[in-house]
Amino acid sequence: MTHAKIVPATRSWIRNAAALLKQGELVGVPTETVYGLAANAFDAQAVQRIFLAKGRPASNPLIVHLASDNDLNQVIAHDTDAIVRERVQQLSVFWPGPLTLVLPRGAAVPNIVTAGRDTVAVRVPAHPVMRELIDACGFPLAAPSANRSEYVSPTTAEHVAEGLAEQVSLILDGGPCAWGLESTVLLVTPDANVILRHGGVTQQELQQCLGMNVREVELAATMQPLAPGMSRVHYSPRTRVAFADGPEAVGATGRIGYVAFSPPPEAVRGRYERVEVLSESGNLGEAARNLFACLRQLDKLGLDWILVEQCPETGIGKAIMDRLRRAASRVQ
Ligand code: TXA
Ligand code: MG
Repeated sequence: MTHAKIVPATRSWIRNAAALLKQGELVGVPTETVYGLAANAFDAQAVQRIFLAKGRPASNPLIVHLASDNDLNQVIAHDTDAIVRERVQQLSVFWPGPLTLVLPRGAAVPNIVTAGRDTVAVRVPAHPVMRELIDACGFPLAAPSANRSEYVSPTTAEHVAEGLAEQVSLILDGGPCAWGLESTVLLVTPDANVILRHGGVTQQELQQCLGMNVREVELAATMQPLAPGMSRVHYSPRTRVAFADGPEAVGATGRIGYVAFSPPPEAVRGRYERVEVLSESGNLGEAARNLFACLRQLDKLGLDWILVEQCPETGIGKAIMDRLRRAASRVQ
């Protein structure tokens, strides 16, 4: 059943959504990565409502979404280093798309958006509905993923309604997300480029684009100030998750769900209460698109365990494994 707040992303509903956002309301929005919970990025009160709606700690900053990289100067510091500006120029080949850059923050961005930091995370999303919406608003949209804090990100309008129906005025239905995983987050400073979160744009692609080294933040450091929102408990279903070939799986008993990247042998199917296949052809892009919906689905069944296979950490596989490790490391 479709929730009453979910509306088709027609031109008139997009105009409607823009009017609500102008009034300081929250709207569920489709992006090519995951659905977002959007507010006017320049309206501190509206942004405050995002934190309340999600139950998100005030220490975890939000991403600001722009219609175009031409609007970057509205949100980054005027005195941003020339070296950083040049690298942003190079990296803008990935825009619109699943790349978020952490840059020196401009004065117009309210404190609450950046959790008081002197950096701001920005991205130009590719979803046509989101782009049209930002255009109609005439201001950038602050939007985290549209899930309750620490739960699995939403990849359909229905997922948004499941967690946040009471908190939003409207949810624009832009169909299932094309990527299905959150954007790559890259910190750019004069001295270094650091991946704070893996996503659709890979380390290799970033290095090729910049012609220089791009580091990844160590998992141990994700509790540290550099990557405030990357604590390990993110992206977890309520059901315990473990890798099927890991030590924990040995002790997994009771009703067990199993997540496979490609169709498993019959013998494997027979062992589990429910088996979900992420891609019939074993395609990693398709697996990424289906992953969160699959975890949400299994989480509804009241299982004792969800066992997941591992995938090769090439291309989008790196981001998939990152999310699975976080889901599997939840302290129960
Ligand atoms: O694909 C996406 O990025 C989605 C869509 C809606 O755009 N958004 C998303 O937002 O995943 P959220 O809030 O769930 O994740 C944003 C991540 C968090 O880990 C946050 O801590 C980090 O970006 N972040 C935001 N601003 C930052 C900053 N100034 N410095 C370091 N990390 C920052
Ligand atoms: Mg999130």
